[in-house]
Amino acid sequence: MKIAILGGDGFVGWPTALHLSDAGHDIHILDNLSRRWIDTELGVQSLTPMDSIQERTRIWHAETGRRIHFKLIDLARDYELLKNWLAEHRPDAIVHFAEQRAAPYSMKSDRHKNYTVNNNVNATHNLLNAMVELDLDAHLVHLGTMGVYGYSTVGAAIPEGYLPVGIETMDGETVSQEILYPSNPGSIYHMTKCLDQLLFQFYARNDGLRITDLHQGIVWGTHTEQTRRHPQLINRFDYDGDYGTVLNRFLIQAAIGYPLTVHGTGGQTRAFIHIQDSVRCIELALKTPPARGSRVEIFNQMTETHRVRDLAEMIARMTGSEIAWLPNPRKEAAENELVVRNEKFLALGLDPIRLEDGLLSEIVDVAKKFAYRIDRSRVPAVSAWTKEIAPLINHDPEGKRLKSAS
Ligand SMILES: NC(=O)c1ccc[n+]([C@@H]2O[C@H](COP(=O)([O-])OP(=O)(O)OC[C@H]3O[C@@H](n4cnc5c(N)ncnc54)[C@H](O)[C@@H]3O)[C@@H](O)[C@H]2O)c1
Repeated sequence: MKIAILGGDGFVGWPTALHLSDAGHDIHILDNLSRRWIDTELGVQSLTPMDSIQERTRIWHAETGRRIHFKLIDLARDYELLKNWLAEHRPDAIVHFAEQRAAPYSMKSDRHKNYTVNNNVNATHNLLNAMVELDLDAHLVHLGTMGVYGYSTVGAAIPEGYLPVGIETMDGETVSQEILYPSNPGSIYHMTKCLDQLLFQFYARNDGLRITDLHQGIVWGTHTEQTRRHPQLINRFDYDGDYGTVLNRFLIQAAIGYPLTVHGTGGQTRAFIHIQDSVRCIELALKTPPARGSRVEIFNQMTETHRVRDLAEMIARMTGSEIAWLPNPRKEAAENELVVRNEKFLALGLDPIRLEDGLLSEIVDVAKKFAYRIDRSRVPAVSAWTKEIAPLINHDPEGKRLKSAS
């Protein structure tokens, strides 16, 4: 298949491009490289040394003889460029990662809120609009998030996208329907993913677009089978307070002797998936497109759930790290349960990598190896969800220790 990977220079997009290229597909990455600019804005860098996208694709060609093409396009702003590219290439499938994906970044300031909404909603809408205009019957696979459901449950498992409900009619009868599970976004970033869902519902129903939306858990790990093939194919690894996801942050904190930073009671339960499983799920989704005219296909792309403090305690036990209990910058329930249904990918053959099996090798192979690249001052998460929370945030969890040591 000819597959366009939008956002293919990113953390999940790059290993997906390699995985699908390795499987024999013709891969085209479209990306505006905004994530690299945001690194510059924040004064951070990936823990792993990343080459330019052109260099990465050159190395892949040298290693495998396979070409991955790259086109610099801003999906949110270059509508005509995007439309012309799609008209010329007419891909069989499109995988859409191209959004601003950090909740803390989206909550940094009013400017960051505007940027995230404009970027994410326009990128998705421009794509859908162009597909209809060009009569492009490509299967669109979008990376959404488990965060669209929110994290408080009523003791029932979260279904894969649709909730069966009974609605009482005027005659007192009960009519059964399946509706989109009620959205409950916890940040501006998550809100854009909820808006994406509505755009997909509309375009699938109105124009018959074939769409799969993957509600993904927090991705952990770095390597996939293909990124291991050459040092310059390595994936990015974010550890900073805005883009670093919770487990990857604990890993580098353990590797550099920084206290594991738990926000609040650490009673937040979250869904996780290893990067290798994430790329496998995307391949499985591509192999099973919905029929034209059917509703949006939704998968929960996660393999296990954990409470944040349990993860911190597990890593502390494995590495002898301390835990720092900090005020929570987010406005969220202190404790939540999370039970998630994920049978659809398991039924398609996914055999998940378990967190306990992969953690130590991530600490040793990646976090310790590149620890010299870490700027400790970028580790704390300081984006506050509200003006009331902002003054409570601890900007230097190490401060007391460093002072007493000096
Ligand atoms: N990483 C996770 O843990 C996680 C969890 C759940 C869902 N997701 C979703 O998966 C997708 C990919 O996440 P990631 O971690 O790889 O993020 P990332 O930031 O590493 O990659 C996103 C890529 O999209 C590009 N991009 C952003 N806006 C663009 C635009 N307007 N035009 C063209 N390119 C643009 C960026 O330059 C970047 O290369 C995101 O949509 C995210 O919401 C990620």
